[in-house]
Amino acid sequence: MADPTTLRDLALEVARAVAPEIRRLAGGTPPDGTKSSATDLVTVADRWSEQQIVTRLLDARPDDGILAEEETSLAGTSGVRWIIDPIDGTTNFVYGLAGYSISIGAEIDGEPVVGVILDPALGNEFVAALGAGATCNGTPIRVSGQSDLAQALVATGFGYQADRRRNQAVVLVEVLPRIRDIRRGGGAAMDLANVAAGRLDAYFERGLSPWDLAAGTVLVREAGGTIGDLDGNPTDGDFVLAAPPELRDALAELLRSVRADQA
Ligand code: IPD
Repeated sequence: MADPTTLRDLALEVARAVAPEIRRLAGGTPPDGTKSSATDLVTVADRWSEQQIVTRLLDARPDDGILAEEETSLAGTSGVRWIIDPIDGTTNFVYGLAGYSISIGAEIDGEPVVGVILDPALGNEFVAALGAGATCNGTPIRVSGQSDLAQALVATGFGYQADRRRNQAVVLVEVLPRIRDIRRGGGAAMDLANVAAGRLDAYFERGLSPWDLAAGTVLVREAGGTIGDLDGNPTDGDFVLAAPPELRDALAELLRSVRADQA
């Protein structure tokens, strides 16, 4: 049976091996193509990062499964599955803006147990394993504990389809006057890491993929936060709300009232 802390340490070692090259390439790597729409970028660095991470994980644990953003999907036989975003926040990466990250999560028998998010631009390492807490650069982190919706700093993100963006902007028209402010950092994984560290009070988004949120899910939970859909159920990304327990219900009610989960 795999041990979450052993998997966590492997994920950190692998992410650390890749991060310096990603940082070196940030801001100097043009898009090499687009995916779901003309604004959904991919670069050679995304593919290089994925290949490096997958190779290193499988060298150490050849029987594990893998799901990664750019192309890798392997079933595995060990019960462990790695869920990888080799560069989350590719637009920030292309422009040389902080906010992109390397995100490696792991599940055992479908349960999220490891979250490692490395922020090459600022040098932050967010790390968590089920039952072992969450840290940033080795220091324990906690969600903010904010309970007042009107004082909450809330991050969000936007999809790549024009119609969805129009709807997401309409949601913001209703949400923005009722909270402290909105942040759009450019990377879902970093937003979740920042919720875990109490640097944002909450985060919501419609239309994420499993690799955007796998590692962040474990970080938020181990930092004392909640993550799920609007009803608090586990989510595969269709709608994600991460918040301290004290804030969750009020924010969920506001988001439900403006149909944020259908935007
Ligand atoms: C995207 C980023 C962005 C979020 C999008 C994601 P990518 O991931 O996390 O912040 O708003 O929903 O798809 O495409 O840069 O890996």
